[in-house]
Amino acid sequence: MATKAPVLICPAMNVNMYNNAVVKENISRLTAMGYLFMVPGYGELACKAEGYGRLPEIPDIVEEVESILTPKDLRGEKILVTAGPTREPFDPVRYITNYSSGKMGYALAIAAKRRGAHVTLISGPTALPTPRDMTFIPVASAVDMRDAVMEHLDSATVVIKAAAVADYRPSSRSARKIKKGGDGLDLQLERNPDIILEVGRKKGNRILVGFAVETENLVENARNKLKKKNMDIIVANDVTKEGAGFGYDTNIIKIISADGKIENVPLMGKMEVADRILDKVKKIITGRQSAPRRRPALRDK
Ligand code: C5P
Repeated sequence: MATKAPVLICPAMNVNMYNNAVVKENISRLTAMGYLFMVPGYGELACKAEGYGRLPEIPDIVEEVESILTPKDLRGEKILVTAGPTREPFDPVRYITNYSSGKMGYALAIAAKRRGAHVTLISGPTALPTPRDMTFIPVASAVDMRDAVMEHLDSATVVIKAAAVADYRPSSRSARKIKKGGDGLDLQLERNPDIILEVGRKKGNRILVGFAVETENLVENARNKLKKKNMDIIVANDVTKEGAGFGYDTNIIKIISADGKIENVPLMGKMEVADRILDKVKKIITGRQSAPRRRPALRDK
């Protein structure tokens, strides 16, 4: 009661106590006064009853606190993020994939959510926990990812394509497991759709952020990609550097904007890197909002 800080209450009690009319009414009163509550977890309770009443998981409480304490400068934005690798199957038990862990894309989705955006995360298969408080759409192949992106594109104001989409997929998928035979096995591959290229063509006023993972001529290749794919920002990633790229919790990037400006972001955690990228997105949004409105053309009567 003495603090002026936001107060988060995480109730933990017997399920019938939690459902008790007086408790419910008190929670409503406190909510109306500005106190914040988390819904308890479901499961076996200390008294052996089953239901809602467990203390929420500690990482979830920590995430809630992070969200509460983050200024909501992206409120009103609808941010579509893709993350992780894709899986391109060639028989029922095997597939082609890459080393993407999904960490950069998930960090972007979580950071955008903390800053007040409505987030849709379309993710290839990863080992990461599903983030809370966002729309989560799991996909496997590049074609699945493309379909999910196109389905959700209309409502998005910002699209961030952090996924490592496989450029090629096996041309055919055997209905049965391919048996060991001769000394070698030839796989025929065909091109996957380039999702960001398609988004770039119909992006309208949306802000489009892409990634470039390169092992040589980083800036030049990234700039070419930004132009070709009609992006507003490209995040260039030199994966030959220690601490950058796939699998690491850190990254070293260059943020290149459509106007050619480059911001060098030194080695830092992927959550901080995510915030730097979102700062750039926010700058574009603010710039557009403060640009003088063009007057409607006067028409001859
Ligand atoms: O040309 P490149 O694949 O290096 O471009 C990388 C960017 O394009 C990333 O943002 C990635 O998510 C996106 N991409 C895509 N669909 C593909 C290949 C890449 O959206 N098939």
